[in-house]
Amino acid sequence: MDKINIAIDGPAGAGKSTVAKIVASELHYTYIDTGAMYRALAWKALHTDTDIEHEASLISLLENTSIEIYPGDEGNKVFVDTQDVTEEIRSSEVTASVSAVSAHYGVREQMVTTQQRLAMKKGAVLDGRDIGTVVLPDAELKIFLIASVEERAQRRHRENVDNGRPSELQTILKDIQVRDEKDMNREISPLVKATDAVEIDSTRLTIEEVADKICALARERI
Ligand code: C5P
Repeated sequence: MDKINIAIDGPAGAGKSTVAKIVASELHYTYIDTGAMYRALAWKALHTDTDIEHEASLISLLENTSIEIYPGDEGNKVFVDTQDVTEEIRSSEVTASVSAVSAHYGVREQMVTTQQRLAMKKGAVLDGRDIGTVVLPDAELKIFLIASVEERAQRRHRENVDNGRPSELQTILKDIQVRDEKDMNREISPLVKATDAVEIDSTRLTIEEVADKICALARERI
């Protein structure tokens, strides 16, 4: 059976990573969390007092940083310079900075090259903002996953509470709106639906229902 690549794009908190993990596990594919790579660089910038608005400084930081992504059943483990930052890259500080980091052309150029290399052998499920449009424009299946902003904020809040992280619903709602606004309106690779993507609104669907739909679409293409 031939393997395909699956691109899952959409706004923050639409359920991309949870769904992508299930789909990858069902199909025995590799899940690659591209947002984690931008988060890892944002984490390093915060820890080295690097100006996140200054592109040249970030590129130089990226060139001198090792960011490793290890796929696994529980999601991707993320290491920066051999330090496990899987949990830390989900902090509110990193979340608040990551859209500024990911808006720089030079940063995206390097990240995209790495992501394309990781998906070269096919059999990969990548989630992000520009997978179907820029990273894998030839992906055999492209999904654009959306949900209402209220539902997305609720889900993030529950996820934080479940993981013992501090969480405040109204703050999350505002943060998601700000991040969407930045990700959709940036000049380079903004979040847009690829013309050949299948849009799925997950507001009233369970994660399993969304994953089932995507697996069914994938099996039609394998
Ligand atoms: O998916 P996640 O919320 O972890 O992504 C964090 C941030 O990384 C996004 O808000 C966006 O700014 C950036 N990102 C991106 N392109 C991707 C994945 C994430 O610009 N492919």
